[in-house]
Amino acid sequence: MAAVDYRFARRSAVLGKSVYDHADGVITLSVGSAFPPILPDLSSEAAQSAQQYVTEVMQYGPILGLLDLREVIAAHVANEGVKCSPDEIIISNGAKHATDLVCRVFTDPGDKIIVTAPTYMTTLQCLRSHDLQFVAMPQDECGMRTDVLEHRLKTMRQNAEPLPKLLFDVPDFHNPTGITMSLARRKDLLRLADEFGFVIIEDDPYRQIRFEGEAIPSIKSLDEAGNVIAVGTVSKILAPGLRIGWAIAPSEIVRRMALQKSDGGSCPFTQRIVANVFRSNKLREHIDLVTTTMREHRDAMISALAEYLPEAKVRRPEGGYFLWAELPAGVSGDAVAAEAVEHGVEVGSGRLCFPLEDPGNFLRFSYSYVDPVTIREGIRRLGVAYKQVVAAS
Ligand SMILES: Cc1ncc(COP(=O)(O)O)c(C=O)c1O
Repeated sequence: MAAVDYRFARRSAVLGKSVYDHADGVITLSVGSAFPPILPDLSSEAAQSAQQYVTEVMQYGPILGLLDLREVIAAHVANEGVKCSPDEIIISNGAKHATDLVCRVFTDPGDKIIVTAPTYMTTLQCLRSHDLQFVAMPQDECGMRTDVLEHRLKTMRQNAEPLPKLLFDVPDFHNPTGITMSLARRKDLLRLADEFGFVIIEDDPYRQIRFEGEAIPSIKSLDEAGNVIAVGTVSKILAPGLRIGWAIAPSEIVRRMALQKSDGGSCPFTQRIVANVFRSNKLREHIDLVTTTMREHRDAMISALAEYLPEAKVRRPEGGYFLWAELPAGVSGDAVAAEAVEHGVEVGSGRLCFPLEDPGNFLRFSYSYVDPVTIREGIRRLGVAYKQVVAAS
């Protein structure tokens, strides 16, 4: 067939190898997939849904999502201090889809969004596809530097520049850095949202995967003004293959998001299965299992890094799936990640997580997908790859 010169949209430009293109036999320490041996068995919930809810699950569903599911989610988040009614909840095909819908509702090309540098790489792709301009903020151990943000916003206002419409952050066990935002910073963000008129997207998939330490109230639970959209998902607490997530926001926002769905809404069959799981104690048990397992994985990765890659500066996250490593200045994360594949292990180059300039010397690891012994072997291989890159430079 003759090659066609397709006139692709700019947003479809391929920016490099996707982290999802794993080579066969390579140890994968690059993606936040669930650990296969603990994927839940939902066959009884699926059978019950198919047998008892035929007219519901084999039919087009309500565009906001099944009322039953929205009710159980309202009850679920009430345990975390978030008060909302089902008409303030929209079901989506995962958290990323919910963020995409928020962008559709709030932004036009060229609008500004505040993000941390680094931030969750897949959301960056989504934000880029909406042609948004990034206002990139540094983080420290307490999360996004709200003092830097305030200064930047005041400068924009003084210069009569358009102010950002949105802020995206992952306040608990941030992807990729693992940082949890302090209470004071959460309150600062709410104050700034009020003063400068932006909406906060609080993407919180890891909140319940806490290994140690005290939980800090979610930003949504502190919001009295209606400036926060809480984005949730079952991907980390149950199974990513279900593709069920949600957003919680004032109903005026939720209704607009529903009208931006271009797919007729999320699968009613899966929604019914998830509603059944939320109603049972299976969800709590599964979250406990994921938490215990991920704690072991994190510990295995931290100790392997100390042994095989002591040159890397690593933060120990109190929960979540990810580790972020700073290599010595001048050692390229891209080069180490590329060499690592040659040695049979895949890790993420930090470059993919930076909205604007990449400092160049970061790596992102996920400890979720493979067992502790394999994690250790993967980090050993990475250590060999690292030494080769340093020797060659
Ligand atoms: C910050 C963040 N948000 C969302 C997700 C998952 O989104 P989804 O519900 O679309 O699977 C991930 C998964 O890695 C994540 O790290």
